[in-house]
Amino acid sequence: MSTKKQYVRVRREQGEETRQLLVASKLLDLDYKIVKEQGFLYFPLLSEVDRPSVDEALNGHEFKAGFREFQPTQVGPRTLEEALKDKMPSEKLELLPRAYDLIGDIAVLEIPEELEVYVTEIGLAFQRIHRNFSTVLAKQGAISGLTRTREYAVLAGENKTKTIHTEYGVRIAVDLAVAYFSPRLLEEHNRVAEQVQSRESVLDMFTGVGPFALHIAKKRVSHVVAVDINANAIKLLKESMDLNPLVGTIEPVVSDAHEYVRELSPAAMDRVIMNHPSGASDFIADACHVLKPGGIIHYYDFLGGEDPEGQLRKKTVELVKAAGREIEQIPMIRRVRDSAPYEHQMVADLIIS
Ligand SMILES: C[S@@+](CC[C@H](N)C(=O)[O-])C[C@H]1O[C@@H](n2cnc3c(N)ncnc32)[C@H](O)[C@@H]1O
Repeated sequence: MSTKKQYVRVRREQGEETRQLLVASKLLDLDYKIVKEQGFLYFPLLSEVDRPSVDEALNGHEFKAGFREFQPTQVGPRTLEEALKDKMPSEKLELLPRAYDLIGDIAVLEIPEELEVYVTEIGLAFQRIHRNFSTVLAKQGAISGLTRTREYAVLAGENKTKTIHTEYGVRIAVDLAVAYFSPRLLEEHNRVAEQVQSRESVLDMFTGVGPFALHIAKKRVSHVVAVDINANAIKLLKESMDLNPLVGTIEPVVSDAHEYVRELSPAAMDRVIMNHPSGASDFIADACHVLKPGGIIHYYDFLGGEDPEGQLRKKTVELVKAAGREIEQIPMIRRVRDSAPYEHQMVADLIIS
């Protein structure tokens, strides 16, 4: 059965070089056949690949991109359900994960408790179907604690939790066992970076492995102070700073954000990013202390129930007021993603007078 996929098209003469570049950058979907047609080669790309990653991989080579049908290279099971239909009862098949997170060359599955005894079979079947991953991990429990990490079990492939993840052409060193990272925030990382103006001073209060800081410094001549209490996260950020051509500067800092901000002069920053949804509300006074009049706070929170936008508006107005400042405008409030059943990760951009 054919599948519609993104492609890169080049002239046949450039085929081998292009294939090698796409394989080296881990963009080619090896599960589908390359198509030869009228002097051109069409290379199938992995579904999550974005245009900047292709531009970077093919670095100056001429190509055309689009979508078309491709045939699979192997005839075999295409889904976990198909692969495991003889190995578990049908009511259990319905519980198999239908989606997964892709972080660099690591696939992360969320396997329900009821399938606990089948995890090895699930890992091996997943690896047989998707041959582009080095490692298949399963989430173990919820994100928790000060560093917002969780445990993972290796289901198949290499025994590792460290990889390089690419978002909008930004390369990010990630180690899931020791520092927070979510591939689901890429649109936020890019959205905030797009807003930053040249020469801005930005405080990324809970930088984690630094995706906001890296997106900004890759795009803008700016200065980002990237703070996190987790030394492992800052070590990974420092690795990523060597992986990307940056036009701005990043100052990585291992510290508690309260303590660090207390040492800064008042009104030193044009922008503060507060991406710690379970804890940011405790730090609003710090952000208000360090933000210039007219500066912007990107504030993240988890909210459930009716009208989370209204709740967030009310909450931020009260928090900023209690910190002795006023919200001049809220140009944007939105739901970033579902964080739990009936709960959203929310963001509000707050202009503070
Ligand atoms: C949700 S994660 C950060 C995500 C990151 N901004 C991103 O986009 O990937 C929250 C981070 O806050 C850090 N953190 C928690 N408490 C902190 C504190 N008091 N001071 C500084 N960082 C803190 C954690 O170590 C964690 O890396």
